[in-house]
Amino acid sequence: MYEEVCRATGESGREAFNCLVRIWADIVRIRPLQEKDRPAADRVIPLMPDLVRAIEDEGFFDPLGEVFAVNGLGAKDQILTPEPIVRFIVEQTVGKAAEEPRRQPVRVLDPCTGTGRFLIVTARLYAPALGPRLHLYGVELDLELYRACLVNMRLASFSLPYRILYGDALMLDLGADSPNWAFANRWDPPDWRKLKFSRFSQTK
Ligand SMILES: C[S@@+](CC[C@H](N)C(=O)[O-])C[C@H]1O[C@@H](n2cnc3c(N)ncnc32)[C@H](O)[C@@H]1O
Repeated sequence: MYEEVCRATGESGREAFNCLVRIWADIVRIRPLQEKDRPAADRVIPLMPDLVRAIEDEGFFDPLGEVFAVNGLGAKDQILTPEPIVRFIVEQTVGKAAEEPRRQPVRVLDPCTGTGRFLIVTARLYAPALGPRLHLYGVELDLELYRACLVNMRLASFSLPYRILYGDALMLDLGADSPNWAFANRWDPPDWRKLKFSRFSQTK
């Protein structure tokens, strides 16, 4: 799909990746397709059934992350974690929490979420047992990856409640009751530097 976008647009790298993300955002009804992306979309959409079959066969859902990783589109600090390692960490953390008897929801936060693969694997492994008591939170500072994560979560969150926030996890108040979460899941999020509620706020 990425290669088809490159062919249709004459772009490569992040530009082509972003175009693919926008096409998927239209497919999952996050944001309507823009005319400029239509030629690429016309090439990508016929490939969707093959992709769905491949996802079902492999049982892992982060193809946008794979495109990002395979084509080396990340900066130095943007290496995505391989799926077996993600699964191991999720089993050792969320898995343990899921086993405890509790009334409160199990809240999972990935403060550097990338394309959201920790949240995706969490949803796949624990949605059946925990259902809507599993709440997923992610924060991502790179707007393009943040948008890829929004698309992924729409596709792979198993209808669990999730909130993905664009911003700096080191700066923002990310407590479960933080007002910042009201700005989550927006394709065009506000500038996080202007959000009022930082970790260092004196008053809330
Ligand atoms: C190494 S990648 C890992 C992504 C994902 N958690 C994974 O393991 O596949 C780290 C991501 O965190 C983002 N990031 C780095 N510093 C951040 C910060 N202070 N707040 C939010 N996101 C940050 C980067 O843009 C990058 O996408």
